[in-house]
Amino acid sequence: MDVKTIAVIGAGTMGRGIAYAAAIGGYKTVLEDVSRQVLEASVAWIRQSFDEGVARGKVEAGVRDRALSLISTTSNVEDAIRDAELIIEAVPEELGMKLELFTIFEKVAKTGAIFASNTSSLSITDFTGVTVSGDRCIGMHFFNPVPKMKLIELVRTPLTADETVATCREVAGRMGKEVVIVNEAPGFITTRINALIGNEAFNMLEAGIATPEDIDKALKLGLNHPMGPFELVDLVGLDVRLKILEYLHSTLGEKYKPNSLLRQYVAEGRLGRKSGRGVYDYPQQKAAEKKA
Ligand code: CAA
Repeated sequence: MDVKTIAVIGAGTMGRGIAYAAAIGGYKTVLEDVSRQVLEASVAWIRQSFDEGVARGKVEAGVRDRALSLISTTSNVEDAIRDAELIIEAVPEELGMKLELFTIFEKVAKTGAIFASNTSSLSITDFTGVTVSGDRCIGMHFFNPVPKMKLIELVRTPLTADETVATCREVAGRMGKEVVIVNEAPGFITTRINALIGNEAFNMLEAGIATPEDIDKALKLGLNHPMGPFELVDLVGLDVRLKILEYLHSTLGEKYKPNSLLRQYVAEGRLGRKSGRGVYDYPQQKAAEKKA
């Protein structure tokens, strides 16, 4: 199918990044979120990311202007998806919410539209079972921060058609991304490995083996990871990581059992950069939130 319009459902950290990528790929992009406030913050973030890209010489000013002109927003899912040939949901990892959305997609979307999920761990068939279009359902797993991360994991279920994979591969290419193809399994490739590294870092911290700074430094300078596991979990969100580990624990077994210190931090509201405190403190973020 020839994709001209992409609808992105959910304008949180990932949804806004996906909208950025869709627009830079030259697609008419409709970004949906129930919250007007979240939509406004998303558009501001997208604008800022483009400006930053231009200032650093990574994006041409003309590309930014064209991309920004392609983005619109709405708080109505049905309006968002009506004209889209590709729908990408990036809502929180709540099975019920995804089931509800895919039911709406099946009812309202254009004939032949592809339904993609940016889930970072769930099995796609757990919520695409409600649709009668399993051949057009696929996982498109993006990475944070989307403008800078080059990979999309394309997750195919036993029902996903080759044509659906081919279309998503082409879209990814126009977004400037590379793909890997993964047969459906909890956590795909990257989430499964990343969850283990991140959980082990918490196990070491809890056991008093080293400070967070030294664990991060060791992985950066000793293993050449671009970010340490604690810097990364603060970026991704401790709540997001905990949910992923809980799911992998329930599907893949004991080695994914979430660390208790991670649980404690989440219970205390230490969710990472977004809440002003995770493993590390982000006083500027806290001050900005207070101001808003
Ligand atoms: N628009 C488009 N492209 C841009 C851009 C912009 N605004 N800004 C930068 N880029 C491009 C650059 O051109 C560069 O590409 P080239 O190498 O081809 O030149 C690439 O993005 C990287 O940019 P930088 O080198 O400027 O980035 P950096 O040095 O500031 O590094 C980082 C930042 C890439 C985020 C790096 O720290 C990193 O890789 N960290 C790890 C992040 C990570 O692991 N993320 C995954 C989290 S897990 C996840 O997201 C999945 C989940 O489901 C929870």
